[in-house]
Amino acid sequence: MPNDPYLDASVRWKIQSGHALLREPRYREVVEFVTESGLATEVLRLIGSGKEADVYLARDGATLVAVKVYRTYRTANQVHRTMKLDAIGHLASWEFELLTYAWSDGAPVPRPLKREEHAFAMQYVGTVDHPAPRLKDVAGIDMETLAPRVVAAVERLVEAGVVHTDLSPYNILVDRQTPWIIDVGKCLRVDRLGAPPWLKVHQAREALTAGAQHLARFFAGRGVRLDAASLVERWGHSIERFGRFSSAA
Ligand SMILES: Nc1ncnc2c1ncn2[C@@H]1O[C@H](COP(=O)(O)OP(=O)(O)O)[C@@H](O)[C@H]1O
Ligand SMILES: [Mg+2]
Repeated sequence: MPNDPYLDASVRWKIQSGHALLREPRYREVVEFVTESGLATEVLRLIGSGKEADVYLARDGATLVAVKVYRTYRTANQVHRTMKLDAIGHLASWEFELLTYAWSDGAPVPRPLKREEHAFAMQYVGTVDHPAPRLKDVAGIDMETLAPRVVAAVERLVEAGVVHTDLSPYNILVDRQTPWIIDVGKCLRVDRLGAPPWLKVHQAREALTAGAQHLARFFAGRGVRLDAASLVERWGHSIERFGRFSSAA
C-alpha cells in the first residue's frame, strides 16, 4: 500500500520512545533550549517568524546575536486523512554551513557563530530596539545609491560560490546603507559542481533570473531602473568558469 508506513522508521521510533514532541516547543521551551545549549545567554524577543523557522533577538554575554530556530517538523501532505510529517530540523545545519561558507569568503551575510541541533546563532544586524529593516521596508534611504549596493552584494555572494534561490526584498536587510543577505538555507553551492554540472548551472541561472526579476520590479516601483537580463549576465559571470552559463537558458 502506498504511504504505509506513513512516517519513516526513525520518526516512528522517536514517537514510540518518547523522543519526539508531536507539537512544536513553546516560547519558554525555546528559551530554555537556546540558553542551555549555549547558543546565547539570554533571549530578548521573537523578531521574525516564517513557515519553517523563528528568529529571536538574543544576547550572548554583552553581544547581541540573532538565533534562528527551525521547526522540527513540517506537514508534508495528507494521505487518507493521515498527517505526513517531514523532519526539517536538519535544514539548520545546511543553512549554517552555507552561511559559514559564504561568510568565510567575504560575502555580505551575517557572521555564523554556533549551531546546536535545529538552531544556530549568527551576527545580529540592527540595534537593540529594531532589527535592520528588510529591503522591502526601508524608508528614508536614497534608492539610487542603494540599488547598486544591493546588486554588488548579490554579486559578491555568487563570487563566493553561493546562489540564493529565494532572493527578494524580504531576504535582504539594510543596515543604514549596507545590504546584508540573509536566509541562505536554500542556496545552491556552485563552487564545486558535482555531476551533472550543467543541471546546477541551469538551476543557478533560473534562481538568478527570478532574483533579478524580483529586485528589478522592486526598484522600478521606487523609480530606479535595473535591467534584469543584464543583472543575470553580470552575476553569472563568475559561474561562467564552469562553462555553459550563458548557453544554459
Ligand atoms: N541576522 C539577523 N539580524 C537581524 N534580523 C534578522 C537576522 N536574521 C533574520 N532576521 C529577521 O528575521 C526574519 C526572518 O528571517 P529569515 O532568515 O528570512 O527566516 P525565514 O526562513 O522565516 O524567512 C527576517 O525577515 C529578519 O527580520
Ligand atoms: Mg526569509
